[in-house]
Amino acid sequence: MIICTDSNRPNVEPYVLADEDRAEIEHHIHHYDDARAASIDALKVIQRRHGWVPDGAIQPVADLLGISAPDLEGVATFYSLIFRRPVGRNVIKVCDSIACHLNDFEVVQGEIMNKLGVGLGQTTEDNRYTLLPICCLGACDKAPVIMINDDTHFNVSPEQVPSILEKYL
Ligand code: FES
Repeated sequence: MIICTDSNRPNVEPYVLADEDRAEIEHHIHHYDDARAASIDALKVIQRRHGWVPDGAIQPVADLLGISAPDLEGVATFYSLIFRRPVGRNVIKVCDSIACHLNDFEVVQGEIMNKLGVGLGQTTEDNRYTLLPICCLGACDKAPVIMINDDTHFNVSPEQVPSILEKYL
């Protein structure tokens, strides 16, 4: 077990890297010639444990990868499926790129907002859903597209929104 504090960011909570997370990250590192290539895999290990990546985890994970904390932070903030703030039990990502834009994603997004009473980047009071925008999900011929957790929903209409949301407790 490693307890790490970040001297550059004194307000960051000390983070305890669990032994099994450390072992899994090291396992990922061994799959690459360059340890930094395991950055996203390592961040996913942390996210699986907490549901997001706490600030304190950045430094010990960066140390394992042999890169700087700002470099890892850059990866964490660039990659939209890594969450840097706490999220609800179910994360809804609405594609707002061009094909979905041309197929009225705003109407679907508006229906989700109405139904949940939250805006983009917000979490419902019961912590059941977080709503986020996302860039193209690679299914432009089936726009509009939304993703909830690991499930992708295609050709979503506003009328389908309530039944889709109900599936996610
Ligand atoms: S633009 Fe939405 S899936 Fe490609």
